[in-house]
Amino acid sequence: MRRYSRISGTGSYLPPRRLTNADMVGLLAERGIETSDDWIVDRTGIRARHYADDGVNASDLGLQASLKAIEAAGCQIGDIDLIIVATSTPDMVFPSTASILQRKLTESAQALGQPGAAGGAAFDVQAVCSGFIYALTIADAMIQTGAATRALVVGAEVFSRILDFNDRTTCVLFGDGAGAVVLEAVEHDGSGPAVLASDIHADGRHTGILCVPGTVSGGQVLGDPLLKMDGQAVFKLAVGLLESAAKAALAKAGKTEADVDWLVPHQANLRIIQSTARKLKLSMDKVIVTVDQHGNTSAASIPLALDEGVRSGRIQPGQTAMLEGVGGGFTWGAVLLRL
Ligand code: UT7
Repeated sequence: MRRYSRISGTGSYLPPRRLTNADMVGLLAERGIETSDDWIVDRTGIRARHYADDGVNASDLGLQASLKAIEAAGCQIGDIDLIIVATSTPDMVFPSTASILQRKLTESAQALGQPGAAGGAAFDVQAVCSGFIYALTIADAMIQTGAATRALVVGAEVFSRILDFNDRTTCVLFGDGAGAVVLEAVEHDGSGPAVLASDIHADGRHTGILCVPGTVSGGQVLGDPLLKMDGQAVFKLAVGLLESAAKAALAKAGKTEADVDWLVPHQANLRIIQSTARKLKLSMDKVIVTVDQHGNTSAASIPLALDEGVRSGRIQPGQTAMLEGVGGGFTWGAVLLRL
């Protein structure tokens, strides 16, 4: 018997404003820029994305996803002793979006006459589209060592705020949303639900191919505060790195591709997802795909897809899922878990 962490509940939230590819064609046409539904679907598989309204921040999306995950876990807000938010679009420079989320969760608990989450650790993780994989890996490690007992791990993004709507090669790709899981301590002999292995990496030599190069200094934004991406360079790196991280996680857990019931990949591009599935010898009916409806929601994409898989009844308790992501940094990683 030993201590593991296991996912006991999932939740997700998309802001209600939905933009189809036809809406994006209209939006860009107003700026004299051409795009088409055919191009977006052929190159990416994306058909729609959601944008948060002005004044709605990552912590607001994260709050809705978190409340659903906590309800699914059958626990209360006051049971959470660690909050990690993966985001590259935080509410403020500081404090962390996790601290702001903790306050909002505590307010929700108080409205129900329950104890809040104040006092537990709360911090953000910034690893762009790999952020949720990083955050899950950290939370798992903290639970295994006894530093935490019940963690809320959230991916929440408002990427619509950092898109350059004069750049058709990037602005059609991204959307807003949030996903969350409750990760809690459990003791068993290794055959029960658990995070089985994880594998995370970064290579800072590639910071320039996917970045928002601006910064805040002296009361002003210095440099460009909008997203820049060399799509082809990212594409080429992504496919190989996702394969290597997934295989490393399998090796650490003493498993093979044949043990994977579900692939829950970062949702950036359907062609990358298909290529990764092929490399892992998984048919597409074992892959959760949401990129068509959400676009790329960066750190939110994996928990959003996981929640979709669980709530649709496809991912069942006892099954094994491979979560994997890649993004700016360059960062990448995979988590293998049994639900
Ligand atoms: O979340 C982090 C990870 N991010 C990713 O994984 C993204 C990885 N990269 C990609 O998904 C793809 O590279 C893109 C979807 C970004 C681009 O697809 P691509 O097949 O690599 O296209 P491309 O950049 O080679 O562009 C092909 C053509 C170009 O025109 P020319 O030069 O051939 O005349 C572009 O100008 O497509 C044009 N194009 C567009 N046309 C219509 C680029 N964007 C658009 C657009 N609508 N929105």
